[in-house]
Order: sequence, then structure tokens, then C-alpha cells
Amino acid sequence: WPRNARLHDGEFVLAGVSATQLADEHGTPAFFLDESDFRERAQLFRDAFRAAFSPLGVDVDVYYAGKAFLSIAVARWAHEEGLRIDTASMGEMAVALRAGIPGDHMGLHGNNKSDEERRRAITHRVGRIVIDSPGEIDDIVRVARALGRTAADPVPVMVRVTTGIHAGGHDFIATAREDQKFGLSLAGGQALATLTAVLDHPELHLLGAHAHIGSQIQDPTAFEVNARKMLTLRADLEHATGYLMPELDLGGGYGIAYTPEETPIDVPNLAQRLATTLSEVAAELGTTIPRISIEPGRSIIGPAMVTCYRVGVVKPVVTDEGVTRLYVSVDGGMSDNIRPALYGAQYTARLANRTGSEQGALARVVGKHCESGDIIIPDVVLPADIGPGDLLVVAATGAYNRSMASNYNNLLKPPVIAVREGHTTVLVRRETEDDLLATDLG
Ligand code: LLP
Repeated sequence: WPRNARLHDGEFVLAGVSATQLADEHGTPAFFLDESDFRERAQLFRDAFRAAFSPLGVDVDVYYAGKAFLSIAVARWAHEEGLRIDTASMGEMAVALRAGIPGDHMGLHGNNKSDEERRRAITHRVGRIVIDSPGEIDDIVRVARALGRTAADPVPVMVRVTTGIHAGGHDFIATAREDQKFGLSLAGGQALATLTAVLDHPELHLLGAHAHIGSQIQDPTAFEVNARKMLTLRADLEHATGYLMPELDLGGGYGIAYTPEETPIDVPNLAQRLATTLSEVAAELGTTIPRISIEPGRSIIGPAMVTCYRVGVVKPVVTDEGVTRLYVSVDGGMSDNIRPALYGAQYTARLANRTGSEQGALARVVGKHCESGDIIIPDVVLPADIGPGDLLVVAATGAYNRSMASNYNNLLKPPVIAVREGHTTVLVRRETEDDLLATDLG
């Protein structure tokens, strides 16, 4: 739950505003974001990494991974807290630029960037374009030349590396295994070859190598192994070419707690462990530690946001095992949270507008879509008297919920409302029927 969430007489209160008031004013379903919590989590990454690395004389940049959730205000908050913004598309760049983020405080990722995306990144002097395939070198050089960039003013790039770490999590989100679309293989030598090839192009400035090993990773060891491999790669490139990369980007992927059974990554401890690992490896290899960057997304926005639904139909259904389960239907579903259907993701929920009966009932929270797989939480105990009109809040829906929302069944995407010290601000308004029909030319 967000840091500033409380229970008051059975009512869920976020940063001083009750769920009832929020729902009355903004409707449901809606995402409510604890602004202070977001800012504090951003500060935690910044300060913990600074504290761990500054004794080594190493600077750390924290890039907020906008794919988790990006809006103009959120980009601005991240910037105000000293973070940079990691983008992965034209649209994400557009939001960050609209927020006034300087290009050199942004990065651009993507395994299949368009020339238009490259042009925009180069024109706005995005601080790093992360190369994801050998052929992309020529693509960037072509666009850079067309925009008049030369050796005197080269385009800063990184090369995305797959370090081969399988860090758990769901298969779809383990992005650094070898048999997947991202990056260049470390073991296969492609990474070193591509880094070397970049050096042949004076229009490009090789900032460093990048490796993001996956998402929702709870074991800090995975990040240590990754850091070790990356520093070794940097030393290998130096041996082969004499070029010492000024930076390494260790990606994001820091796990959060979706349910009470899960343990979030301890950020200060992680920062310390990474600093220690890198010092050890640097000593072993007789090398230095370069500037480090990280790209947390989920761990900053995830826990800071909740989804609030209005309960509609509540239907007891006798399961195949002969138990009665309450199917609690809410006014959203897989269009605002595809993660359970896509990844088997787990969530927790609570009644938000009143205490409810002490007696609990086995329940399943389902959406309103025309699909039986439209399940938000398969098994949860809720007050047995939950009924139509009640409010239900689902925890930790900040990351990859609104950003992966769809208009399935032509539902309107929910708004995102920030709450801070008793005040609310609409960051993203609810879609309207006109929005929906605007692109349909009849
Ligand atoms: N950097 C890169 C290059 C990434 O690909 C990602 C996530 C991140 C940073 C941020 O990772 P985070 O700290 O948020 O775990 N839709 C999936 C997650 C996909 C993650 C893709 N890349 C989900 O809902 O779990």
C-alpha cells in the first residue's frame, strides 16, 4: 500500500482524502497516486546509490523507466527529484519533452526504433540512444549525418548487452536471457564486436554498455552477477581496443511487494552490495569503476498507486470442489489491469468505504469484460457482506497497469489522480466517449 494510506473508521484514506470522497469526485474505476510516496521512492534510489558510490568517487544517475507509467506531471516530479527519464518510444519521448525534461536527461531504448524516433532523439540531443542490434549502428549514423552531426559533435550511444542471467520472474519479463529479442549476446561475442564496431564511427560517441536483466527481481544476487559481467566486458573492450567506456548502465527490474507474502528489494542494501561487488571486480581486474546508471520503473511508481473500483454484481458460485466463492464484479478489469491474465500476476485488495462484516468470504475479483479470464484477483478473502456500491481498492497498481491499459470492449481508460496532503490533482483525465469515437472515421 502507498506510504500515506491509512484506515480511518474502516475507510481507506489516501494522503488525507477518503476513497469515498475520491470516488465521488472522480468516479471509478480510477488510479489514485500518492505523490509524496512517488517522490520519496525516487529520492531513496538517488540517495542510496549516491551514499554507496560516492565514497568510491563514482557518480550514479537514476533514470526513471517511463514505460512503467509516464505522464507530464510524473516526468516533472522525477526531474525535480534529480532523476532522468528512460524512454522507449516516440510517445514516451513526447511526454518527457512536453514536461520540459532536457534531452540530455533522457535516454532512448528500443529493439526496433524508427528513423522518426532516431531523428527526434538526435534533434533533441537525447543523452543516450541504446543500440540493440549490429545494424542499428548504420541506421543511427545515417540519421546523424543527415542532421549534420560530425566527429566534432558526435551522438552519444550505448550498446545493450544480454548478460545471460535468468533472474526469475515470469518468462515474458526475463529480458536478459539469450533467446529473446533484446540486446547483443555477451557469451556469443556479439556484444564486444558491436561495441568495437561503434568505435569505428566518428559520428558516434560510445558512452558505455547497458544491461537490463529482467523485471520484478527479488534476489539482489542477480544484479551483482550482472554488474560483475558488465565491468569485465568494459575491461575486455579496453584490452581489445584501448577504449575505456565512461559509463555502465545496469538497468532496472527491482522487485516490489504485491502481496504481504512478498519482500521488496531493499534499495540501500542493493546499492551497497553493487558498490562492493564493483569494487572487488575492479580490484581483481586492475581497472576503475565508471559512472553508473540504473533504470528503476516499477519500484518507484508501483507501490505508490492504487486502483479504486466500484463493486457491482456479487454472485455466489459453487466451485468444482464444492465450495462457494463470491464472484465480485467491478467496473473495470483486464482493460485497466492485464497483468494477472498476461503474467499470472498477484494482487491484494480491500474494501475501501466501510469496515464490512467480520465474517470473511472466499472471493474472486473479476472485471466487466466479455472474457472469463478477466480476473483481477483469483482468490482473496473479503467481508462476506460486500455488495453493490461498495468500493474496492487494489494495491500496487502503479506500474504497467495504466501504461498497458486498453480500450477492450470500448471501455474508457481510467483517470490518474494524484493525492498529496489532502489535495487532489487530475494528472490524466478519464477518457470520454468522444475520445473513443474521435479516431473512428465511420
Ligand atoms: N530498463 C529497460 C531497458 C527495461 O526494458 C525495463 C523494463 C526497465 C528499465 C524497467 O524495469 P522495472 O524497474 O520497471 O522492472 N510489462 C511487464 C514489465 C515489462 C518490463 C520491460 N522492461 C510487467 O507488467 O510486469
